[in-house]
Order: sequence, then C-alpha cells, then structure tokens
Amino acid sequence: TTSVNDYLRAHIRTVPDWPAPGVQFRDITPLLQDPKVFRVMTDAFVHRYMGRDLRPDVVAGLDARGFILGAVIAHELNIGFVPIRKKGKLPFTTVEETYELEYGSATVELHTDAVKPGDRVLLIDDLIATGGTMMAGKKLLEKLGATVVEGAAIVDLPELGGSKHLKDSGLPLFTLVDFA
Ligand code: PRP
Ligand code: HPA
Repeated sequence: TTSVNDYLRAHIRTVPDWPAPGVQFRDITPLLQDPKVFRVMTDAFVHRYMGRDLRPDVVAGLDARGFILGAVIAHELNIGFVPIRKKGKLPFTTVEETYELEYGSATVELHTDAVKPGDRVLLIDDLIATGGTMMAGKKLLEKLGATVVEGAAIVDLPELGGSKHLKDSGLPLFTLVDFA
C-alpha cells in the first residue's frame, strides 16, 4: 500500500450492522467532508485519467455516490459527465439494464444520447461490492456503442468477488483502498 491509500483508508468510516446486522458499512462521506482529503482523493483519479493513454471522452457516474465523485473528476478533466440512474428518474428516452441483488433485483437507466458510438468512457462509483452495479453500467454504455476504458472506485471489497468478476469480464479496474 502507498501512503495515499493509507491516508484515505484512515478517513473512511466503518459503521457496524448497517444497513443490516452483520454488514460493516464503509462510509466514504468523511472523505468529502474534509477539503484536504477530498482534494487528495480526487487528484488520485484526475492524475491517472489526465494521461494520454487513459484519457476518456466522457465520465459516467453511478447513482448516487458515483455522481459526486464522477462530476468532480469530469469537471477537472474538462470533459462531460453523464448519470446512470436508478429506474424511473431520467426524463428522456433511455436504455435499461436489470441485475440481481442479494434479495431481488435492480434496474438502472442511461439516456440514449448520453454517449455516442466509439466514445471512450470512464465509469465511476464510490465502491465495488458484488460488482453488479458497475457491470450493469458497463452493459448500458456498450448498448449505445461506447467503450468503457476503465471502471474506477474509491473502495473495493475484494472478498465479495466483484472486482475479480469485473476484471475477468474484461473490465480494467482502478480502486484506491481495499477492505478485507
Ligand atoms: C452501493 C454503492 C455502489 C453499489 C455497490 O450503492 O454505492 O453503487 O452499492 O454494490 P455492488 O457492487 O454489489 O453492485 P447503493 O445500492 O447503496 O445505492 P446508493 O448509492 O443510492 O445509496
Ligand atoms: N459501503 C457503501 N456501499 C456499499 C457497501 C459499503 O460497505 N456495501 C455495499 N454497498
């Protein structure tokens, strides 16, 4: 681990038994609340995606904490931001993708004009657990002919297998902090 990893890890709050008994919830809100930490965190992403090899055309952010992170990173990179939202929130025509949760399922949507065929997209969320949300986002972007250059998140929970599954499915991933 690098010092940036440890610095950020120390500012992530773990809330026991939320939202359900036995869950250790990794809460990223303290990273946003402290301006110095917020800057270190966003700079880690901005520096990576400023470079010629990985520079995207657009950032797509996943509902809801991916909006906060994705919008800041897109703005810093001088590129646009598009939201991938939970079903029923976007007003224009959409493509949708349904995926399985631990109990039941969820559907996410993307405006049909959010990306163009051939666009190189950076897909952002705060955290990867089972990977289902990020996989659904990738599928939506690909339905519109875009390419996801990388998935990025602050936190990975590797024990849930999501990051491995995403990588095995051909999605490169960049995360800042792992929690076992
Ligand atoms: C959390 C988190 C990711 C997703 C990760 O969002 O912010 O979006 O779950 O889980 P996965 O890898 O198993 O799909 P949540 O569903 O709590 O929605 P919210 O951001 O609206 O609170
Ligand atoms: N934190 C935030 N979002 C999550 C978590 C968590 O620990 N687990 C699944 N989604």
